[in-house]
Amino acid sequence: MTKIERHFSAFKGELKDLFGFKNDYTFLDLTLGDGGHTQEALDAGCKVISFDIDHEAIKRAVEFVPEKYSPLVFDSELISLPAPKDFSWIVIRGNFVKVGEIFKKLQLPKVDGIMADLGPSQYQVLSPDRGFSFAIDEPLDMRLDKNLGVTAADLLAVLNEGELSELFMLGDEPFAKPLARIIVKQRQANPIKTTKQLADIVYKVKKGRPGKIHPATQVFMALRMVVNLERENISLLLPQLQGILKKDGLLGVISFHSGEDKLVKEYLTSQIEAGLLAEVTKKPIVPSKSELLISPRTRSAKLRIAKKIN
Ligand SMILES: C[S@@+](CC[C@H](N)C(=O)[O-])C[C@H]1O[C@@H](n2cnc3c(N)ncnc32)[C@H](O)[C@@H]1O
Repeated sequence: MTKIERHFSAFKGELKDLFGFKNDYTFLDLTLGDGGHTQEALDAGCKVISFDIDHEAIKRAVEFVPEKYSPLVFDSELISLPAPKDFSWIVIRGNFVKVGEIFKKLQLPKVDGIMADLGPSQYQVLSPDRGFSFAIDEPLDMRLDKNLGVTAADLLAVLNEGELSELFMLGDEPFAKPLARIIVKQRQANPIKTTKQLADIVYKVKKGRPGKIHPATQVFMALRMVVNLERENISLLLPQLQGILKKDGLLGVISFHSGEDKLVKEYLTSQIEAGLLAEVTKKPIVPSKSELLISPRTRSAKLRIAKKIN
């Protein structure tokens, strides 16, 4: 199989100027992915700490990022010693919800800038064995972290009709109720185990409604969000970040879904009102026309940035 192309990093062109990267700036990239944002910071002379929950993502990032930046890699479950003070790139395999605890264990310094680029990478979505894509027929898995116990197929097998309908609504799926009804009916005779089975059901219920996006997009997104506890993770992550950010440091979050963006906006607004953070831009930053031409996938991306003032 041909190698899946490197993930297109949203807002990569703007990152250096937005954050003011320079020598000795310390950047925390909470979502390494294929390493695009991390590499921007390394190329600008920053010291970088990168997290990813997915072993495969880390392997790929280390391959994509030039060899001269060879990282020190830690597993969040196996940390016994502090990190060396003079590191240039540290990679941590672990869930970013543990960032506060891991910073303490590794005795890492406070950082000048933090970025979280939420959701899966294109590699994860397009990978033939991960179960994220309706374009490939594969087991409905969708776990970013293989240590998680519940797959998308498990959710479709055990949730009741009301729960399934609520789940699909998280992806703003207008056909959530009829879809939940049909799935509960159909699964008795024929458990839904593959991406194609699910995509076919959605296609039938929505009568293949043509639109800008594939009819199964919202259902697949909602399942992915629940399997990976994405909303819960954002809510647990955000309150930890000011404790590891220096005064005048910047916090940026890129979200691709209105529900996620709402969580980020509410958190930042509460901290701005409390006088702890300040607005950097009045409105969220959206992709430029040229970025959209290269990567239409980024059409729903929103970048919110705030500055720590207290
Ligand atoms: C959109 S991609 C990031 C792409 C990256 N900025 C780049 O330029 O290539 C998101 C990455 O975050 C990781 N991720 C998602 N949730 C995570 C979590 N809770 N903790 C750590 N990493 C997470 C995913 O495995 C994925 O590799």
